[in-house]
Amino acid sequence: PQAKPCLLVIFGATGDLTRRKLIPALYSLSRKGCLPPEFQIIGIGRRALSDDDFREQQRQGIEESAESQHVDASLWSGFAAQISYLSGDFNDRQTLDRLAERLASAPPANRIFYLATAPSATSTIVRELATVGLNCEDNGFSRLVIEKPFGQDLASAQALNRLIAAGFQESQVYRIDHYLGKETVQNVLFFRFGNALFESVWNRNHIEFVEITAAEPLGAGHRAGYYEEAGALRDMVANHLLQLLALTAMEAPVALDADAVHDRKTDVWRSIRPMTPADVAARTVRAQYVAGAVNGDRVPGWLEEPGVRPDSRTETYTALDLRIDNWRWGGVPFYLRTGKRLAAQATEIAVHFKRPPLSFFPCTDCLQSNVIILRIQPDEGISLTFGAKEPGTSRNAVPVSMDFCYREAFAEDPPSAYAVLLLDALRGDSTQFTRSDGVEAQWRVITPIQDAWAKDTDTPLATYEAGSEGPAEADRLLERNGHEWRSIGESNWVCQI
Ligand code: BG6
Repeated sequence: PQAKPCLLVIFGATGDLTRRKLIPALYSLSRKGCLPPEFQIIGIGRRALSDDDFREQQRQGIEESAESQHVDASLWSGFAAQISYLSGDFNDRQTLDRLAERLASAPPANRIFYLATAPSATSTIVRELATVGLNCEDNGFSRLVIEKPFGQDLASAQALNRLIAAGFQESQVYRIDHYLGKETVQNVLFFRFGNALFESVWNRNHIEFVEITAAEPLGAGHRAGYYEEAGALRDMVANHLLQLLALTAMEAPVALDADAVHDRKTDVWRSIRPMTPADVAARTVRAQYVAGAVNGDRVPGWLEEPGVRPDSRTETYTALDLRIDNWRWGGVPFYLRTGKRLAAQATEIAVHFKRPPLSFFPCTDCLQSNVIILRIQPDEGISLTFGAKEPGTSRNAVPVSMDFCYREAFAEDPPSAYAVLLLDALRGDSTQFTRSDGVEAQWRVITPIQDAWAKDTDTPLATYEAGSEGPAEADRLLERNGHEWRSIGESNWVCQI
């Protein structure tokens, strides 16, 4: 549906997310003519700023953003006129009263409240919005968009869901996971269910194991304070990686609508075998990086980063061996790994098929298993590896690949994930967001691991050198099943145009 006239209120407007992601995404939507008519943005932050100061900060943010858009003067003046600023503390009822007053006198009557704030502020803002009546949908819609992390464990996520449910209907709530806005992530379902070829072999009879990787060469940057509390498990696995796993493993939804998709994803998370403390010791790895070199540049270890406690036990890397106890996946390991300061950036899902039952080629080890690699980023695309006859008189098979490169096929870059999701929220489509039962099912997988790690005894905190492939413990996790990770650092990806 076409987005209706709407007013977007951003809490945490002077923060990094607003400047680096939200406003650049809204500007790009405006440039493409995708924003609704009579659209307005009100930023709320603690800092005392005039409307013009705030607009100028955001203009700079657009120019510095990852998509580094050139800001066209005439387009900007129209866009900037839609932005205003309200300064105030979210813990202070008066701020919400002033907001309510401003909204009462400002059409349009449809509102979206975007919480781009520190997680500690979420409960207060949700409660206050309901108290001043901004949850009401009498004259138009009222939607809440809530950034991750949604709680910090199962109990806090449940408490937050209860608090939200006291003031809002579930249909008003959009729990955002920006991975779901990525074209290549959305494409997983299209690849699986838009083709007859792959789905027939997408199960335990043909698949040996699945590897899901999100590796980053960067550290936590200026977010060390947040990351010190979150760690890799909460920051990346509890949301982004579990979403990738669900898309890879879920059954076909009855329709491509929000509830149908959420139902099938939640089934997957509920089928993941909860880990006992013994499982956590045997099937998880947590590690922290020490000084090393990333792309040739020396970088300090985690403990030497500014804002990090000298005795920090925060994991900057984790690897898990998860099992999905259902008929499709019984016995197939799903290996997840993510970390900061690794050899390269690589986010991908690699589906490894079983080997042929026997090989009659002279070279016994050269016939590798087929692998389908869904490359999320960078160099977005899909690759299928298979064995081919080595040219000439050789009777050996060698691995080759068939490749789909996103940029080559579509001659354009994928749009920003935030632009995609903001447009969905404006249109009222919550398919690519997380439902309350889904977020709790995700925490049911994660919290037993958190609890076991908190004891800090059975799963020692390993180390890895910055710029490496990760800790040796992660290799051992797969070796005992006769499996091996794909290399992060080696350029083993062909789609680099
Ligand atoms: C965020 C995490 O959710 O995702 C960051 O908080 C991480 O730590 C980022 O770097 C990765 O996102 P992307 O889109 O760059 O893969």
